[in-house]
Amino acid sequence: MDIQILQKELQDQQPRDILKSIYAQTNNIAISFSGAEDVVLIDMACKLKLNPSVFTLDTGRLHPETYQFIQAVMDHYNININILTPDPTTLQDLTLKKGLFSFYKDGHSECCGIRKVEPLKKHLLTLNGWITGQRKDQSKETRNSLSIAEIDPSFKGCDGQLTKFNPLCNWTSEDVWSYIRALDVPFNTLHQQGYVSIGCQPCTRATLPHQDPREGRWWWENAVNKECGLHSNS
Ligand code: ADX
Ligand code: SF4
Repeated sequence: MDIQILQKELQDQQPRDILKSIYAQTNNIAISFSGAEDVVLIDMACKLKLNPSVFTLDTGRLHPETYQFIQAVMDHYNININILTPDPTTLQDLTLKKGLFSFYKDGHSECCGIRKVEPLKKHLLTLNGWITGQRKDQSKETRNSLSIAEIDPSFKGCDGQLTKFNPLCNWTSEDVWSYIRALDVPFNTLHQQGYVSIGCQPCTRATLPHQDPREGRWWWENAVNKECGLHSNS
């Protein structure tokens, strides 16, 4: 598959059609679901009867509302979500050495590496491609030049090269929420409490109206480092 040709073909399409094209051209792919507004991908894929494989990275530090939401999505769409967990030995070493809140002192990359990146890396090795809910409008600093289709610059798939799809790339937050409201899509109740960008509980806080949503993530660190290693878009 030539990624430039594919990107050109998909660039003016709407997410629903992008998903249809992805599933027509690629097999062994999965949707990466964070327990937040990227639920629209699951909604579209289920309504298109694409029988999507879905996984989520359970860091062990998600909000109770996020766990409830993940279960609600499984029930609503009658699907299984593959819940991936960190390697217990590596995690035990970290907490034994540094306790439960090392990220406030040492930065988030070590903990994110163990709780998110390594489990993701391992899972992606079983796939040809993955689908994320990333959008350009989520971060001026790191997601501005996001593409709908790309060769993953960080991870490998089962045949070596891994394709990464971002069907919501050109949608705004407003587009996503109009879809959620219009089609009665279930959502994480944290969104009703001022949370916009939702990650782990100790590393996420609500933001004020018109504040950059990424400011609610790892707020004790500088603005250019608001990624956890799942995506290197900059
Ligand atoms: S993050 O890199 O800062 O954590 P963000 O929360 O913006 O990412 O989510 C962007 C996309 O990354 C989501 O739409 C989803 O596809 C994927 N993602 C993020 N966190 C998770 C998670 N815990 N499990 C699975 N996918 C995730
Ligand atoms: Fe650890 Fe915070 Fe990263 Fe979650 S977001 S894996 S708690 S550093």
